[in-house]
Amino acid sequence: MPDVDLHALLALARNARARAYAPYSRYPVGAALLCASGKVYPGCNVENAAYPATICAERAALAAAVAAGERDFVAMAVVADAQRPVPPCGLCRQVLLELAPEMPLLLANLAGEERLTTPRELLPFGFEARDLSEAAAWRGRTPDA
Ligand code: THU
Repeated sequence: MPDVDLHALLALARNARARAYAPYSRYPVGAALLCASGKVYPGCNVENAAYPATICAERAALAAAVAAGERDFVAMAVVADAQRPVPPCGLCRQVLLELAPEMPLLLANLAGEERLTTPRELLPFGFEARDLSEAAAWRGRTPDA
């Protein structure tokens, strides 16, 4: 992973955190996603009075990048004011696994603690597109499919 300044990316994630909309949890989270184009897409959590409508910082960054035409993800940094480097939620792990399974992912807190990982490490034995393909192939073999 040459030429990727993960700490510069983390600084951008901190900036994004400052823009979070988190009136319910009061737990702002920031993310910054570096793409192969060289562009960095920020993400922050955007909460809602209907709590499950909330989107996390990680998925916000990924959605913004995909909407801009990006498909090649180089690295992501995520930060929150947490007791440990912020652990992504299960939904975000699933979405990260789909879009960037091997991407270096720097998780951090404001105290300077960090954990460098990957989506695949965070979600071992996760459900993936190839599992659907196998299911489709299997259905094709059955007479009553
Ligand atoms: N949250 C994120 O945005 N990313 C994470 O990695 C952990 C959780 C948000 C969701 C919600 O707005 C708030 O943090 C508390 O769960």
